[in-house]
Amino acid sequence: MTISATQMLVVTAVLLLLPSPGSAKDSNDTVPLVLWHGMGDSCCNPLSMGSIKKMVEEDVPGIYVLSLMIGQSIIQDTENGFFKDVNEQVAFVCNQLAQDPKLKDGYNAMGFSQGGQFLRAVAQRCPSPPMKNLISVGGQQQGVYGLPRCPGETSHICDWIRKKLNSGAYTDMVQKHLVQAQYWHDPLNDDLYKKHSVFLADINQERVLNETYKKNLMALEKFVMVKFLQDTVVDPRGTEWFGFLKTGQAVETETLQESALYTEDRLGLAQMDKAGKLVFLESDGDHLQFTREWFTAKLLPYLH
Ligand SMILES: *[C@@H]1O[C@H](CO)[C@@H](O)[C@H](O)[C@H]1NC(C)=O
Ligand SMILES: *[C@@H]1O[C@H](CO)[C@@H](O)[C@H](O)[C@H]1NC(C)=O
Repeated sequence: MTISATQMLVVTAVLLLLPSPGSAKDSNDTVPLVLWHGMGDSCCNPLSMGSIKKMVEEDVPGIYVLSLMIGQSIIQDTENGFFKDVNEQVAFVCNQLAQDPKLKDGYNAMGFSQGGQFLRAVAQRCPSPPMKNLISVGGQQQGVYGLPRCPGETSHICDWIRKKLNSGAYTDMVQKHLVQAQYWHDPLNDDLYKKHSVFLADINQERVLNETYKKNLMALEKFVMVKFLQDTVVDPRGTEWFGFLKTGQAVETETLQESALYTEDRLGLAQMDKAGKLVFLESDGDHLQFTREWFTAKLLPYLH
């Protein structure tokens, strides 16, 4: 299960970044960071979340970094990324964050791939402790329509998932048990999506407009979204910036700013945009591919 944040990152980390002299600070007024890994990955893979955690700890001396484990073991954590009801995962995380005394004054959150939209649900549903900055790294904020490729060594699981999605992503059985179905967004069956998507349609205000979601999301200081320009895993790529396919067809895309979600401002994103709270970043690589230099230059500023 070696996946996500790439060997490239690890190699560059070794070559480029010995801790800079004089960076050790005595003060410890750092803001804690919560990480949520992507599909097929786990909290503690040394090549992915492990290396991110280590890198942040080196760059921000004294910082508390919590890499979320969903379940009781690394194996469960990986499996839950495919099979555990996302609403239950979010509730599990909310509970864990609320009980962690180190987070009580607030934290920044960084989600990788599907972890990006899951942490947004945490922001919308669980305002305490407060999330300050939310960083979605290749997250699918408007879901996906297609599963062209799975990251890493999980292609047999991927084939199986694809079959299930095609056989009826919005049936109760598939919705209940398949994580990827819970952010499956079929523009040709918009009514089914709105009615039966147990996770994404809820957090994206497709059924009712939950004012609490809007208020909580708008309480963020920044909502940073990273898009990977050569992404071959996420379809359509625009979802990483909260865009999607236009409803009723599967070719033309629209940006967040063109969507009804924004023009009707159902989630507060238009107000956040006008207030300068939305940050759109790009990385010129495949899914979750970036160098340590890029990370330091682009994302580190949001971890303070
Ligand atoms: C800084 O504070 C965090 C959170 O309380 C703690 O986990 C960490 O160990 C502290 N670091 C240092 C160097 O004291
Ligand atoms: C709105 O969201 C809050 C927080 O998750 C929840 O407690 C409440 O039941 C939701 N209201 C509706 C109408 O869905």
